Amino acid sequence: MQFHILTIFPEMFKGFLNESILKKAQGKGVVDIQIHDIREYSKDKHKKTDDTPYGGGAGMVFTPQPLFDCIEDVKKMATKAPVIYLTPGGRRLTQAGVEHLNKKFTQLILLCGHYEGIDQRVIDELVDMEISIGDYVLSGGEIPAMVLVDAVSRLVPGALGNDESHMEESFTKKLGRKKEYPHYTKPADFRGFKVPDVLMGGNHAEIERWRKNHLR
Ligand SMILES: C[S@@+](CC[C@H](N)C(=O)[O-])C[C@H]1O[C@@H](n2cnc3c(N)ncnc32)[C@H](O)[C@@H]1O
Repeated sequence: MQFHILTIFPEMFKGFLNESILKKAQGKGVVDIQIHDIREYSKDKHKKTDDTPYGGGAGMVFTPQPLFDCIEDVKKMATKAPVIYLTPGGRRLTQAGVEHLNKKFTQLILLCGHYEGIDQRVIDELVDMEISIGDYVLSGGEIPAMVLVDAVSRLVPGALGNDESHMEESFTKKLGRKKEYPHYTKPADFRGFKVPDVLMGGNHAEIERWRKNHLR
């Protein structure tokens, strides 16, 4: 899976891309993440990317020129990718939505907004999908893009140590889109707090039943 992230804050992605599962997945070559600095596309002499809103009101709006130029340029190298704009007004991201993106696409272009949002003409002309990570407002689309990249990458074959570990997680079809059962590890008795006997009995049918009954 190849992700192209369009942002005016490329530095925000440094730690995110260089730790844990995403670092390993990139190392194995199953996930490729490229960051594009939208500001570099600005033709303004001060590399400005915002301006005041027509119609008045508080805040600034992301100008269309750097966004059009950046998206058009990235589309040349990601010809099969839909352009996804991360926005609170978009369709709420769910595990089913994440699975759909992973199954249907091999490339994704993720556009991070800022300010009060982006000029509507960019959405009308170049955006294929609008996705929200929840009903609250963040300062920019960078964290939502990270959320989407992380959730989709986990499903890419070879990204996790064990490919089966994502099959039986919260919100997956296998668990009826419910929240997962509780986990326990060693020791069996920690400060007097005990692990349920059934999990240590070795009866797989009983363990399965217990876990099913403890989905939330
Ligand atoms: C301050 S927000 C703009 C909020 C916008 N004025 C509104 O009321 O919907 C700036 C940027 O952050 C991103 N953003 C903020 N909250 C988000 C969310 N819940 N999901 C996805 N993106 C979000 C979007 O890219 C947005 O353009």
